[in-house]
Amino acid sequence: MVEKTPIAILISGRGSNMMALLEACAQPDYPARVALVLSNKPDAPGLDIARKFGIETSFVDHKSYGRDREAHERDINQILEKTGVKIVCLAGYMRVLTPYLVTKWSGRMLNIHPSLLPAFPGLHTHEAALKAGVKEHGCTIHLVTPGVDEGPILAQAKVPVFENDTADDLAQRVLVQEHRLYPETLARFITEKRS
Ligand code: GAR
Repeated sequence: MVEKTPIAILISGRGSNMMALLEACAQPDYPARVALVLSNKPDAPGLDIARKFGIETSFVDHKSYGRDREAHERDINQILEKTGVKIVCLAGYMRVLTPYLVTKWSGRMLNIHPSLLPAFPGLHTHEAALKAGVKEHGCTIHLVTPGVDEGPILAQAKVPVFENDTADDLAQRVLVQEHRLYPETLARFITEKRS
């Protein structure tokens, strides 16, 4: 049996990337298992999906903390440490993190971003790509550092941009690649870390 590193997945919404990671982790030869899915939103649809998979879930509602982002992250971190996870995967986690949590998980926190970074950091990446008239778009997996969407790039996947694409067309095309790239990159990251 392959050794399985316990990971946490942080989400804010529907959790399709979470789902891709859950499915990969369910394979006997995959080097990770999902020990926790955590959301900053109590009603994130992804939480229900994770529960149906029998995964431990938790939420820390950012609204209860007002402007104190670090207090919110201290409570998240306490849960992460209590659960004993070794790696944190941000998968559609839509809060900008403070240096507090980023530093705690330095070198052990991955993010997926729907553009070919450094192009189009931040939100509304597909609209931005169309507006810029690029011929290629895609997604990036990177390590999380204090600068938003700036950490070292672990992997990227490209898709073509067609003339009549809408932002939704592009989002869909990129998402297919996200679901393939995240599990693949996480597995490689863990395996390389071990050796
Ligand atoms: C994904 O496209 C992910 O790349 C993006 O949000 C979507 C979440 O979808 N993440 C970001 O924009 C992070 N800045 P999902 O909840 O179905 O995985």
